[in-house]
Amino acid sequence: MSWKGLVLAGGTGSRLFPLTHQFNKHLLPVYDKPMIYYPLTTLMLAGITEFVIVSDPVSLPQFERFLGDGSQWGLSIEYAEQLKPGGIAEGLLVAEEKLRGAHIALILGDNIFYGSGLPAVLRKSLSESKGATVFCVDVADPSSFGVVELAPDLRPVRIVEKPKQFISRNAVVGLYLYPADVMGIAANLKPSARGELEITDVNRAYLEQDRLTVRPLGRGVAWLDGGTTDNLFNAAQYVKLIEERMGLKIGCPEEVAWRLGLITREQTESLVGRMPNSSYRAYLDGLLAGAQ
Ligand code: DAU
Repeated sequence: MSWKGLVLAGGTGSRLFPLTHQFNKHLLPVYDKPMIYYPLTTLMLAGITEFVIVSDPVSLPQFERFLGDGSQWGLSIEYAEQLKPGGIAEGLLVAEEKLRGAHIALILGDNIFYGSGLPAVLRKSLSESKGATVFCVDVADPSSFGVVELAPDLRPVRIVEKPKQFISRNAVVGLYLYPADVMGIAANLKPSARGELEITDVNRAYLEQDRLTVRPLGRGVAWLDGGTTDNLFNAAQYVKLIEERMGLKIGCPEEVAWRLGLITREQTESLVGRMPNSSYRAYLDGLLAGAQ
């Protein structure tokens, strides 16, 4: 099965105004690195090396300057333009040509995942994936997410975007696995009341075809997002706390690329050697020295 990662980095970021007045949300810092590093490395750890990044016409050149063609990390990164924030499912359609019939791991650029078992869960889900797979997490307040109701055997019964009435605490996280036929489903969607092509409508279509798998991520995985000022601040504090306490970095593409063997030791040394003196560089210098 050939998989491509689709990272959505468009939208208005309006809930972060004025931070996002001139800057794309996904380039804002989450503690010590730009937000987009986190979803990108989540998919790298799942074994994905080919990516398409979707963003608006103003931000896209910034991403291209920033991430290039991905070869520095042993990746291939292409870019697709979304003219207006017409919804997450529209992100699939604007990237269709670049995805070229591959299976798609779609991740929202403001979603941050952390948990030791997560790479294994994702790799297993990719290899076993039939139809669509979504992941859910228990949250205290499900009203601002896609929410899924599960039968006792974990089969999905109902999936609703931002339910006004409580149906369950299972929030659907911003990471979705789809076969190539998702494009046909996305192409037939009608815009929702908020004028967007909703990813929850895509997932409901798979549910109605009895082709939707829901995997609860469980307590071992932290799921955060940087969509509001409070969430962004909390995510930064979480990353800082874990990194300081454990002396490791979350979401560091150079480290992930090197550990996964996507780039050689020499390539990693050359990358790090070109970095200015910073705690980020010191961390990578330390890793390279420790592994000699
Ligand atoms: O975070 C998980 C939730 O994300 C899911 O539980 C919901 O079902 C899903 O609809 C979504 O909810 P949000 O309302 O939080 O999505 P938001 O509009 O904030 O966009 C999420 C990300 O997708 C964000 O990083 C920007 C990007 N995006 C969004 C839209 C609407 C795009 O790249 N293009 C778009 O058109």
